[in-house]
Amino acid sequence: MTELLRAEGLSAFYGPSRILFDVNLVLQEKRTLALLGRNGAGKSTTMKTLAGIVPARSGRIIFAGQDITRMPPHARARLGLAYVPEDRQVFPEHSVEDNLLIAAKSGPDGRRGWTLPRIWDTFPLLENLRAREAGRLSGGEQQLLVIARALMGNPLVLLLDEPSEGLAPMVVATISRMLRELGASGATILLAEQNMHFCLRIAEEAVVIDKGKVVHQQDTVGLARNEDIRRRYLAM
Ligand SMILES: Nc1ncnc2c1ncn2[C@@H]1O[C@H](COP(=O)(O)OP(=O)(O)OP(=O)(O)O)[C@@H](O)[C@H]1O
Ligand SMILES: [Mg+2]
Repeated sequence: MTELLRAEGLSAFYGPSRILFDVNLVLQEKRTLALLGRNGAGKSTTMKTLAGIVPARSGRIIFAGQDITRMPPHARARLGLAYVPEDRQVFPEHSVEDNLLIAAKSGPDGRRGWTLPRIWDTFPLLENLRAREAGRLSGGEQQLLVIARALMGNPLVLLLDEPSEGLAPMVVATISRMLRELGASGATILLAEQNMHFCLRIAEEAVVIDKGKVVHQQDTVGLARNEDIRRRYLAM
């Protein structure tokens, strides 16, 4: 197995408040790792620190064999680290298709595995909406669009922050199915989620975070049966 992303002893602050405490995680190539935790546990802060939006006060981030701890976000993106934030920002006045084409580029390894036709194949819903202004899409459609847009950059790793948040169950099921297919096709994903059930059939392994600390790590099937951890650290 090839390791693509590693965080070692990460700490992060917002002003004087310490939010992350020695966060460690390892993401292997072609795997999906869930980062689980309840509201305010530090999932988004971890994702932002990995993406370079929040600086790491201490610790190291190794991506595809390089130390990226001090790199700005755009340099990390150029190396193939794609970050999809929880706010689902699209270019509202542009069509779905233009939102995708704006992001099209070959990957850091020169690959262009993801092109518009493959996106339409994977996201038939988006193909039906290709001419629609992105600002007029539903929340779930926008979520699909921002994931697809990230893929158009042919990244090595996708950082997905709470793709299921605030969406209706049917839409969540669509996104879940799509992420499962994406994983099966060889994508490497770090998936931050509150919803353990959403992650169950997508991620093989889960890291549980609470109050900015990694408190547990387990395969997702085992975690689903682990009442104690679920009761203590996850809201279910
Ligand atoms: N910009 C900020 N300034 C100060 N504190 C912040 C800021 N953003 C988040 N926090 C605090 O940092 C902690 C971790 O927040 P974070 O957003 O990382 O949690 P989360 O696990 O993503 O939660 P959620 O499930 O609500 O998205 C929380 O206590 C939150 O209040
Ligand atoms: Mg969050």
